[in-house]
Amino acid sequence: MSQHTPVYASFRSIGAYVPEKILTNADLEKMVDTTDEWILKRTGIKERHIAEENEATSDMGAKAAAVAIERAGISAEVIDLVLCATVTPDYFNMPSTACVISDKLGIHNVQAFDISAACSGFVYLLSLAKAFIESGMKQHVLIIGAEKFSSIVDYQDRSTCILFGDGAGAAVISATSVASEGFIDVHASADGSYADFLVTPAPGSINPVSQKVIDEGLNFVQMKGNETFKLAVKTLTKDVKEILQKNDIKSEDIPHFVPHQANYRIIKAVGDALKMREEQVVVTVGKYGNTSAASIPMALNDIWESGRLQQGELMLLDTFGGGLTWASALLPFAGKSNA
Ligand code: UT7
Repeated sequence: MSQHTPVYASFRSIGAYVPEKILTNADLEKMVDTTDEWILKRTGIKERHIAEENEATSDMGAKAAAVAIERAGISAEVIDLVLCATVTPDYFNMPSTACVISDKLGIHNVQAFDISAACSGFVYLLSLAKAFIESGMKQHVLIIGAEKFSSIVDYQDRSTCILFGDGAGAAVISATSVASEGFIDVHASADGSYADFLVTPAPGSINPVSQKVIDEGLNFVQMKGNETFKLAVKTLTKDVKEILQKNDIKSEDIPHFVPHQANYRIIKAVGDALKMREEQVVVTVGKYGNTSAASIPMALNDIWESGRLQQGELMLLDTFGGGLTWASALLPFAGKSNA
């Protein structure tokens, strides 16, 4: 492609990996003071999938990525950038999970790195893929959202352990000269003044591993659930309204609205505020729980596999998470339909 031909980033394929083991609400009733009724009513979650003890974030990410590469109809050799979004990396310092995944896929000598944007990670990666491709720096970007959230959840804390699950999703984003295949827009933003809403206090430079960290359980995720809930509804709604308005697209013209899968009540409130019909809104939180950076690609994979997501159809993605971070994206699905 010549330097002067306009280049667009296009969403070529989606893949996911869901661990086999299921943790049901009935299982959680035996672990903490909760009930199936409370969890269903307050979150819409029935079950979540949990990785095996010896299964790493990179194992799940590599499996999802292999599916995405195969469905894109390309050879792994043409991928020139590997990006992974995760807050549950294989190693907290180094190497990055993107490097480990690249090796598992046999992709060597290409740029690879992780980003930390919690649940917003996958849509943050879309913004990076767009920038790398449209600047002409890269041609085929592999993006992965993968989480082993069970590795940072305290299964004695009923306020968090009922919410999260494990899994991975991946996509291939490629350069195209066809404008109608290109991303329409991606917004990504953050406000660190809410950092304490969702935090894993250790390990890190503030709390390196110590006996205190173990004794006080500082390695587990902590969340101000109710405050996060209220801000999530407000921010997600505002963000989607802005991206639609800016691009002169009406909410009723979106066939697939894929919000972050944290809580059905949040999804319903945002969908209602945008006057979305039920069939426009993708909901997978009931069977996967909140899988953080993997939540949106796992949901996209579900609608692709069921034949709901067809080539050329518009997707509106919207997410919110620790940081606090939030992001939305408006783009067509430029891959093959699952006939
Ligand atoms: O992915 C990143 C973004 N994350 C989110 O968006 C998550 C946002 N937050 C939420 O989804 C909800 O806030 C939760 C599901 C975490 C909690 O629901 P809530 O309606 O906000 O409940 P709450 O925290 O206000 O707690 C209400 C009551 C409390 O009892 P009291 O103080 O009223 O006696 C809690 O102790 O529910 C109690 N509670 C539970 N009861 C049974 C909290 N967790 C549980 C539980 N089972 N698992």
